[in-house]
Amino acid sequence: MSRSFILIIGGSIALSSLAIAKEIIQTRENADKFVGATGCKSSSCHGGAGEKRSQYITWSRQDFHNKAFAILTDARSARIAEAVGIADAGSNARCTVCHSPFQSVAQTRLASTAHPDEGVSCETCHAAAGPWLRGHTRPDWTYATRVSAGMRDLRNLYVRANTCVACHQNIDADLLKAGHPALVFELDSQSFNEPKHWQDDDSWSGARAWLTGQAVALREASWRSRTDNEPAPDMQETSLALAWLLARATLAEPALPKVVEPTSSDLEPIQQQADTLARSAWNPNIYSAMSILRALAETDSEFVGKQTSVQFFYRAKRLGLALDSLVKALNTNHGVPLKIDNELNALREDVRTHDHFDAARFAEHLRAVRSKM
Ligand code: HEC
Ligand code: HEC
Ligand code: HEC
Repeated sequence: MSRSFILIIGGSIALSSLAIAKEIIQTRENADKFVGATGCKSSSCHGGAGEKRSQYITWSRQDFHNKAFAILTDARSARIAEAVGIADAGSNARCTVCHSPFQSVAQTRLASTAHPDEGVSCETCHAAAGPWLRGHTRPDWTYATRVSAGMRDLRNLYVRANTCVACHQNIDADLLKAGHPALVFELDSQSFNEPKHWQDDDSWSGARAWLTGQAVALREASWRSRTDNEPAPDMQETSLALAWLLARATLAEPALPKVVEPTSSDLEPIQQQADTLARSAWNPNIYSAMSILRALAETDSEFVGKQTSVQFFYRAKRLGLALDSLVKALNTNHGVPLKIDNELNALREDVRTHDHFDAARFAEHLRAVRSKM
C-alpha cells in the first residue's frame, strides 16, 4: 500500500517531502519488526561513550547474552545435543528458543538488519523496535509514550521478572540429565551479574527485585510441575523450596500477601499465591527487610529432620540468595552496615554443589550469620 502511495505522487514530489515519505514507508514496513542490535549501536544512540549512551557497548563487551548463540557451537553444547539426539544445537529450536531467540521469529518479522545469530539481544528484552525505533528519541516522548508504542515496560519489576524467567528457570528434564546447567532464577543478583546497563536510583530496588523474582520463579516452577507429564525433579524441588522460603518471608512482613506451604501434592494454590505476591508492589524499609532477614536466618533448626538431603539443598540454595540480597539492601540503606561477608561466603560455599552439601554444616553457618545480626 505504501509503495503505491509513493508511485502516485512520485512524479511531482519535492525532495524534502520525498524524504519524509520514505521515513513513513520505512516505519510502516518495519511496523512490527525486529531490527536487530545494529539498529541500536550508532554512537549517537546506544553505542557511544558515557554512561547514558553506552548500553550497546556494555552488552557487546560484557553481557553474557551476547555469547548466548556462540555457546551453542562449543564442545559442551555438542555433547548435550548428542545426548538428547539433536544434530545441530545452533539451529535446533530446543536450544535456540533461549540461546538465539531470533531463530524462532517468523522471517517476515525480521528486518534485513536482524541477525539470527545475535544471541539474546536488545529486542529480546525490550520488544521489537519497529514500531518505536524512530519515535523513541523524540524529546516529546515520555517513557509512557514509548511503552504505549510497544516498548516493553521493563521498569515494572513484574514485567521484568516475567521477561527473564522465561529463559532462566524451567528447563526440560532430559536437557538437565544431558549436562545442561540447572537454572536458578534470582532477579537481584542476576541483574547485577548481567551486568546492568541501566541507571538504578532506587536503593530498595534490589530487595524488591529479589522478592518479585522469587515469587515469579515459584509460579513458573509450580506451573511446570503441575502441567508436565514428567516434571523434572528439579521443578518439584524448586517449587517446594521456594514455597517454604516465601511462606516464611511473607509471614514476617504483614504488608505482603501470604504464601502457604502446600500440604498436599496439589500445587495450583501455590501457583496463584505466587503470582499475587509477584504483582504486589512491596515497599520495603529497614524494619520490614530486617524482619524478613531475621525470620529467614532463624530457620537453622529446620535443617535437621525427615527431609531428604536434596530438599535441604534446594532450600539452602534459595535461602542463601535471599540473605545475600536482603543484607545488601540493608547495608545500602542503613548507616551501620552488617559485617557478615565471611559468614555469607561460607553459606555460598555450602550450596555450590549438591555433592558436597551438608545440612548440619549449613545450619551451623546459618547460626553464625544470626549471631552477627
Ligand atoms: C529455557 C531456556 C534454555 C534452553 C531451552 C537451553 N538453554 Fe542453555 N542455558 C540457558 C541459560 C539461562 C544458561 C545460563 C545458565 C547459568 O549459567 O546460570 C544456559 C547455559 C548453557 C550452557 C553453559 C554456558 C556456560 O557459559 O557455562 C550451555 C553449554 C548450554 N546452555 C547449552 C544449551 C544447549 C545445547 C541447549 C539445547 C539442547 C540449551 N542450552 C537449551 C537457557 C537455556
Ligand atoms: C536481558 C535483557 C536485556 C537486554 C538483552 C537488553 N536490555 Fe536494556 N534494559 C533491560 C532492563 C531490565 C532495563 C532496566 C529497565 C529500564 O530502565 O527500562 C534496561 C534498560 C535499558 C535502557 C534504559 C537505561 C537507563 O538508564 O534508564 C536502555 C537505553 C537500554 N536498556 C538499551 C538497551 C540496548 C541498546 C540493548 C542492546 C544492545 C539492550 N538494552 C539489551 C534489559 C535488557
Ligand atoms: C531469550 C532468553 C533469555 C532472556 C529473556 C534472558 N536471558 Fe539471561 N541468559 C540466557 C542465556 C541463554 C544465557 C547463557 C548465556 C551465557 O552463558 O553466555 C543467559 C545468561 C545470563 C546470565 C549469566 C549466567 C547467570 O545466570 O549468572 C545472567 C546474569 C543473565 N542471563 C541475566 C538475565 C536477566 C537479568 C534477564 C532479564 C532482564 C535475562 N537474563 C533474560 C537467556 C535469556
